[in-house]
Amino acid sequence: MKQRLLAIETSCDETSIAIIEDIFIISEQTHSQIANHAKFGGVIPELASRLHSKTIFELINLTLRDANCKLTDLDGIAVTIGPGLINSLQVGLTVAKSLAYSLNLPLYQVNHLTAHAYSPFIGTAKNLIPREALVVIASGGHSLLALKKGKKFEIIGQTKDDAIGEVYDKVAKMLGLPYPGGPAIDEIAQKHFNDSKVVSLPRPKVREYDLSFSGLKSAVYNLINNRQIAKEQPSQIYQEEIATAFQKAAIDHFITKIKLALNDFNQTKIIIGGGVTINSYFQSELKQLPNVKVFFPKNIYTGDNAAMIAYTAAITYNQNLKNEDFDKLLQLDSNPNLIIGELVD
Ligand code: KG4
Ligand code: ZN
Repeated sequence: MKQRLLAIETSCDETSIAIIEDIFIISEQTHSQIANHAKFGGVIPELASRLHSKTIFELINLTLRDANCKLTDLDGIAVTIGPGLINSLQVGLTVAKSLAYSLNLPLYQVNHLTAHAYSPFIGTAKNLIPREALVVIASGGHSLLALKKGKKFEIIGQTKDDAIGEVYDKVAKMLGLPYPGGPAIDEIAQKHFNDSKVVSLPRPKVREYDLSFSGLKSAVYNLINNRQIAKEQPSQIYQEEIATAFQKAAIDHFITKIKLALNDFNQTKIIIGGGVTINSYFQSELKQLPNVKVFFPKNIYTGDNAAMIAYTAAITYNQNLKNEDFDKLLQLDSNPNLIIGELVD
C-alpha cells in the first residue's frame, strides 16, 4: 500500500500544506503572507506566527479536499522542525503533534534546509538523487555551500553576516522598491544589465568558500547617500543603475565561490535550493558552467513550500515505523538554529 503523508511548513512567512503519496505530491496549498509584511519592508515575526495560526486549519482542509482524502486516510504527519522563526515553527509543530497524537500516527521531523537541498528531486525516485554533489542554498535566511555525501551534508562555507536574500530585501527598501526585494531588483537588472553607465560595486573579500553580503549593503547605502546629496540624477535612474550593480556584485560573488568549491573538491554536480535561486542572472551563470550538471528546483519549489518537506520525509524515513512513544512526541520541540543535514543519522 502506498503511504500518504501530510506535511506542514511554517518556518517563515509561508503557511504551506502538502499531501504526498509515495514520492508524488497529490495536493499542495500555500498561503503567502507577503502582502501582510510588505508594508513593513520585511517579515514581522509576531505577525507571521499569528497569521500561521489563523490560516493553517483552513489550508489543511483545502489540501485534504483537493487530494480527495480524509484525515483517517493518512499514514503519517511531517513537519518542519527548524531552522526558522521560533514562534512560526511552533505553530506548525503544535498542529502536527496534535494531529499525530489524535490520529495515532507517526510524526516525521524535517530539517528545512535539507528539504531545500532535496527540492529539485520532488517526484524523483530516491536512487536517482546524486550521492555526491555540491549543495548551494541561497534564500532569505541562509547562504551556504555544503558537500553532500550520501545523506550527510558537510558545510564548507557560509555567509559571515547577512543572507543574500535578506540583503536583496534591504537594498530594495533603500531604493524604494517593494518587498520582497529579490524579484523587483532582478526585473530591473535584467533590463539594464548591459547599460554602460552601471557603476561597479566592490566584490566582497572573505576567505575560502565563505560569503559576505553586508559590505555590499553598506556600499549601496553610501552610494545612494552620495547621489542624494549631490542631487546628481533623478531617483529612477540611480535606482536602475544601483539595483543592476548590486545584482551583478552579489551574484558574481556567490558564483565565484561556487566555482572555487567545484574546483577544489572535484565536484561535477550542483544541487541548488532556496528563494534566491530563481534569480535570472544566478541561473544563467550556473547554466554556463562547463562540464557541470546543475539540479534546479522547479520555480514553484524555489521558495518555501510543504512539498519539499513531504518529499524529504518520504525519502528519509522508514514509514513502517509507528510512533509508539507518545511522551517523546509530546515533548518534541522546534529548533530555530538547526543546521543542514542535522536530524538524520
Ligand atoms: O527560500 P525563501 O522563500 O525563504 C527563506 O527560507 O528565507 O526565500 C525568500 C528570499 C527573499 O529574500 C526574496 O527577496 C528572494 O528570496 N528572492 C529573490 C528572487 N525571488 C525571490 N532574490 C533574488 N532574485 C529573485 N528573482
Ligand atoms: Zn527556505
